Amino acid sequence: MSDGGTARASAFERGGARKAAEGLGHLSGFGNEHSSEAVPGALPEGRNSPQRAPLGLYAEQLSGTAFTEPRAHNRRSWLYRIRPSAAHPAFTRTGNGAIRSAPFNQTVPDPNRLRWSPLPAPAEGTDFLAGLWTLGGNGDVAQRAGMAVHLYHANASMDRVFSDADGELLIVPEEGGLVLRTEFGLLHVEPGHIALIPRGVRFRVELLDDVARGYVCENYGAAFRLPDLGPIGANGLANARDFRAPVAAYEDVEGPVEVVNKFCGNLWSATYDHSPLDVVAWHGNHVPYAYDLRRFNVMGTISYDHPDPSVFTVLTAPSDTPGLAGVDFVVFAPRWLVGEDTFRPPYFHRNVMSEYMGLIEGAYDAKAEGFVPGGGSLHNMMSAHGPDRETFEKASAAELRPQKIDDGLAFMFETRWPVSLTPQAARAEHLQQRYDDVWQGLERHFRTM
Ligand SMILES: [Fe+2]
Repeated sequence: MSDGGTARASAFERGGARKAAEGLGHLSGFGNEHSSEAVPGALPEGRNSPQRAPLGLYAEQLSGTAFTEPRAHNRRSWLYRIRPSAAHPAFTRTGNGAIRSAPFNQTVPDPNRLRWSPLPAPAEGTDFLAGLWTLGGNGDVAQRAGMAVHLYHANASMDRVFSDADGELLIVPEEGGLVLRTEFGLLHVEPGHIALIPRGVRFRVELLDDVARGYVCENYGAAFRLPDLGPIGANGLANARDFRAPVAAYEDVEGPVEVVNKFCGNLWSATYDHSPLDVVAWHGNHVPYAYDLRRFNVMGTISYDHPDPSVFTVLTAPSDTPGLAGVDFVVFAPRWLVGEDTFRPPYFHRNVMSEYMGLIEGAYDAKAEGFVPGGGSLHNMMSAHGPDRETFEKASAAELRPQKIDDGLAFMFETRWPVSLTPQAARAEHLQQRYDDVWQGLERHFRTM
């Protein structure tokens, strides 16, 4: 679809906003060589960089991987735009708000199990960027390794445009629908969906409701991809065809537009004399995308025990060690539990990986209370965790009839290195003080026959 013209927000003014968002076109598939043009004839045929690009557009490549990375992993897109990205004034430092970046070395890494209630409500006029609040992370942003956990709580649409040179942004809405207006076109997401903005892609977040709240995984490392399926076969988990990429849509806006760029941990701002969301056509595989988590094809046991939660992996960002993710995005979606002679909730365990969990809706089957939508928990490397006492007692005595878990949608950012907290997360008023208590009173049942 075309979004030409100057009134950039006209289609999404309150009232018709959600309807317009729901009507957005999209392209299907994950990692495809997509192509799209908002104006017929804008995309060159047979070459990427003709002597004169069609319609007087500028041709520009956006590289998401090094030129020389293996073809299977190589990501880049060609953009055909009204002005080249290079046409901008100098960036100057601006405040980082509550955004922090790796290395996270301002607090002592904490072996304790930690849990937070939802972020407090922001001041009026807080947009997505101002509403981003960093909980912690690992790695080093300048080494392009590691990740950060952010939460957001916003009540205003962005007027400004944002891009993140430090990593890709996996956005997990928990409350409030969003329209992501990107260089590649528009994506619509609601709670229960995820959106991914690749490294360096400029975008604006517009709210479809009074409030927007959720989670963001900023992945500094190699881009998320679909996990291999091994013996599962050719289908299952997140199916590639269910991922939505936008169709080309552009703004032809002259006049001041603030563009904020996150670079090596700091925010930098410049005022352009035009909108940089001026891409009329594009092709490539370095693209934003969205996915409805309810489409996840859940695999599980049909005999006894249950598989490790890696079987719930939606997306994985590999590290330089095969099989070891920089970060995995895992979802605990509605599913049937049928295991015989099996303790059905997640088992007690200690994990070399570190787990940040959030809740999108409902309840999580390992925690009876205290873990609420918009909140989160952190179980760092080797910290002992599992079902709380109430869940353990109940599940140990339950009659094992087939049971549908359909009242919750939880997720996990599971990462190879411990997550160190920002000072604001370590000292937050919404950090729960008595989380350990959920494992108190687990009774001794041992007896020698
Ligand atoms: Fe765990």
